[in-house]
Amino acid sequence: MTSSSCLYTRTTSLLLIFCIQLFLIVYAAGNTNFYNDFDITWGGGRGKIIGAGDILTLSLDRVSGSGFQSKKEYLFGRIDMQLKLVPGNSAGTVTAYYLSSQGANHDEIDFEFLGNVSGEPYTLHTNVYAQGKGDREQQFRMWFDPTSNFHTYSIIWTPQTIVFLVDETPIREFKNMEAIGVPFPKHQPMRLYSSLWNADEWATRGGLVKTDWTKAPFTASYRNFNVKTGALLQWGMTHSQKLKWVKDNHMIYNYCNDAKRFPQGFPPECRVTGSH
Ligand SMILES: *[C@@H]1O[C@H](CO)[C@@H](O)[C@H](O)[C@H]1NC(C)=O
Repeated sequence: MTSSSCLYTRTTSLLLIFCIQLFLIVYAAGNTNFYNDFDITWGGGRGKIIGAGDILTLSLDRVSGSGFQSKKEYLFGRIDMQLKLVPGNSAGTVTAYYLSSQGANHDEIDFEFLGNVSGEPYTLHTNVYAQGKGDREQQFRMWFDPTSNFHTYSIIWTPQTIVFLVDETPIREFKNMEAIGVPFPKHQPMRLYSSLWNADEWATRGGLVKTDWTKAPFTASYRNFNVKTGALLQWGMTHSQKLKWVKDNHMIYNYCNDAKRFPQGFPPECRVTGSH
């Protein structure tokens, strides 16, 4: 199956075609193979890797949700995954998609998708934990229906910054502000996790809307996982206009604007320009 064995057979065009096909199959399988990269860790068969390993689905019913985690841990890099969220009446369901280290003072970089009743928008919830402390929520509305097609959700994580992207559009940047005393996830490798679960006691309109179990099972799908490791990732300042566009048009909650939550004063990172 090496290229040299293909070279020897080059005289026979049929075999050449066979070699090319073999190469394409090996290449395509190398692209995303959920069997190689992930373990389904929860859900008693409700999480499934399908076909050749290019699609993974999680589902939730009245008895249980499901979840998976990456086999590998990452320290800095860019991670892309395409998700298609639970369609129809997804109220009460939460699809969590996040990087996390382990232990008491863990670090975490979170995307969470809070479902809604049919026709009403999902909430995209984000958070960053450093040294066990989170409380840095920002929430957004997507500018498309995240249930009708796959869309790409990415995390760029370098020693200098964390960027959340949706279809290449940056929606949030959490810079390294250790210089002003804000801890930054930098020392603990993280695994990639995702789970689909029922959170109808709080997720949709603060718990007012309950999960409609007659619509179960609820299913979310994953494909095109891609990871580039290493700290030397491109993150251009040209993206700041896009970040502002998202902030002005699609942000629905920012902890740095929520004075009620911080009677003793905002966290230090909120005083940095661009955090509001
Ligand atoms: C669901 O839709 C309602 C009405 O548009 C909205 O107020 C709410 O924020 C939406 N999202 C969630 C998760 O409740």
